[in-house]
Amino acid sequence: MSNLIEAMKWRYSVNKFDKSNKLTDSQFNELLEALILSPSSYGLQPWKFIVVTNPEVRVQLQAAGYGQPKITEASHLIVFAVEKNIDNALVDKYIASVANTRGLSVGDLKGYKDMIKGSLATKTEDQKVEWATRQLYIALGVLITAGAVNNIDVGPMEGFDTKKFDEILGLDKLGLESKVMAAVGFRSSDDPHAADKKVRYSKEEVVIEVK
Ligand SMILES: Cc1cc2nc3c(=O)[nH]c(=O)nc-3n(C[C@H](O)[C@H](O)[C@H](O)COP(=O)(O)O)c2cc1C
Repeated sequence: MSNLIEAMKWRYSVNKFDKSNKLTDSQFNELLEALILSPSSYGLQPWKFIVVTNPEVRVQLQAAGYGQPKITEASHLIVFAVEKNIDNALVDKYIASVANTRGLSVGDLKGYKDMIKGSLATKTEDQKVEWATRQLYIALGVLITAGAVNNIDVGPMEGFDTKKFDEILGLDKLGLESKVMAAVGFRSSDDPHAADKKVRYSKEEVVIEVK
């Protein structure tokens, strides 16, 4: 079995984290690097990853997260937020970054820039946020997989009041909206879910081959 498949079988959505077992800075930074390297449509990266280390803030978030213990117990908590304003300024910022990184002029990228702006112009504000949220979930998937291959547990959570999270974290003022979060840490040896068998449909049920 490949290391990847072993890791994907090893991982599960941990319910009870070991409060005393923290990631080292180097372990956590590697996960952040993987997150930042996540692909997104056009490469626009319409996201921010909020790393919440303040214990009091995590207690407040827990109250807005249906009391889920992992919000306070996991070593780290990352809240995934999307940009609310997917506008021309966001595209211009990205194009400037491409130009700077690849030693091009912004003018060289005019065709690409106009294509992105044209495509976004066909969407409503809600559709743009929905599109950006899909990009966010790619990053979440990358984090889960990166955690698994490093034997680090990542617990994705959608079960929280996003409006309250935005208030607590001051995301409104930053033009951001929280969508999903991940508890990152190490499983407790007495997690009641540790022995649960993984429930997945078979290959025949989920793979459709068009030959
Ligand atoms: C986007 C997403 C949101 C989830 N939200 C929660 C959550 O709020 N609370 C929770 O305990 N588990 C949550 N889960 C965990 C799922 O229930 C779990 O991934 C699923 O049952 C498959 O089990 P496994 O991850 O252990 O393989 C979430 C998973 C995903 C991918």
